Amino acid sequence: MPVNIGLLGLGTVGGGTVNVLQRNADEITRRAGCEIVVTHASARNIQKQRICNTDTIQLSENPLEVVNNPDVAIIVELIGGDSLSKDLVLNAIANGKHIVTANKALIAKHGNEIFKAAQKQGVMVAFEAAVAGGIPIIKAIREGLAGNRIEWLAGIINGTGNFILTEMRDKGRDFSDVLAQAQRLGYAEADPTFDIEGIDAAHKLTILASIAFGIPLQFEKVFTEGITQITQEDVEFASELGYNIKHLGIARNTDKGVELRVHPTLIPKTQLLANVNGVMNAVLVQADAVGQTLYYGAGAGSEATASAVVADLLDVVRAMSADHKNRVPYLAFQSNALSDMPVLSASEMQTAYYLRMQVEDKVGVLSAISHILGHQEISIEALIQKEPKENETLVNLIIVTQKVLESNMLTALEEIEALSSIHGKVTYIRLEHL
Ligand code: HSE
Repeated sequence: MPVNIGLLGLGTVGGGTVNVLQRNADEITRRAGCEIVVTHASARNIQKQRICNTDTIQLSENPLEVVNNPDVAIIVELIGGDSLSKDLVLNAIANGKHIVTANKALIAKHGNEIFKAAQKQGVMVAFEAAVAGGIPIIKAIREGLAGNRIEWLAGIINGTGNFILTEMRDKGRDFSDVLAQAQRLGYAEADPTFDIEGIDAAHKLTILASIAFGIPLQFEKVFTEGITQITQEDVEFASELGYNIKHLGIARNTDKGVELRVHPTLIPKTQLLANVNGVMNAVLVQADAVGQTLYYGAGAGSEATASAVVADLLDVVRAMSADHKNRVPYLAFQSNALSDMPVLSASEMQTAYYLRMQVEDKVGVLSAISHILGHQEISIEALIQKEPKENETLVNLIIVTQKVLESNMLTALEEIEALSSIHGKVTYIRLEHL
């Protein structure tokens, strides 16, 4: 007996999912032990030209028709957003249907509620495609690393942001120009500020941290900074010092609590992660038994994301007949065994820094700055002062520090900015050696 799928959304990922399911139907059937067939689908405009063949699919402009259809066993939610999609998913769960979704905002913001409802109904909710597109990172952490205590993870988990930073560094291209290209290629979110302001990465980091540490989803506690403040000048200075700037999501399990942060980060060029370019994603995981493992691949795109959706479909189909107690828990740890360890505030986080400031080229400036840093127990790792440009009196002073408590750094920056020989704000970017 085939398993019937109802697809919500026939855009980039929805179309890709239909294409992969149709093209690889034989392989998929051999793996699943039965056929997996999209029988119903909804789209805002069913007349629209599609990237897939929908001849054998019953189309509707009302997603509720799909969600309420008794012939459909699994709902694949590919609409995005977290309002309509939430209602539809909760509705489908109430109807006893299993869920596969690529929707990171939905899981990060409403996952706790959705899993509770799903547990009550005894249905599965699978979300591999929500994080890092085609990279099977959820499965790797949840199942492959299940014997480990995960210490931290750091990932390039927004393809659009990585594409922009790569093009700025390699070709000196303009920020907005590269963003427009990412939108044309279908990588960017419907609202591209989600990509460039770090919100998309924060959604994904929320999910990764929960399955890594067994904590509830806490999107609102992620410290989030985007890439809009990164200038060509900083990209070049970082490079000169031996670093690439990457937009990272970092989750770290510390004695005091969990650090959850998304921000541009200088990482040494010698790191593999520093060489993940373009739209590619990668996640580096440090775990106690295995050590470091790195997962790399396409983080966005039609069939790359469909690859994860289809893998989830296979998992769900194979586990449909299993007792709910024997299925893999939603967040990798048993729902009644999630930890309440606190998420640290930004001021409690510890990281190294790259600082750039415009200073007057005169005696005593350096000693005043190093005095302030020293007073806050901030140790300097490297320092360069650039020659003043012609007819200019100010010079760029760049300092790389060692790891420090963020609150100490913010106090030091306030004091440095108050010095009369410092002009304007100090640019500061976090730095990690990983
Ligand atoms: N906008 C996202 C990105 C798509 O650029 O990574 C995949 O989640």
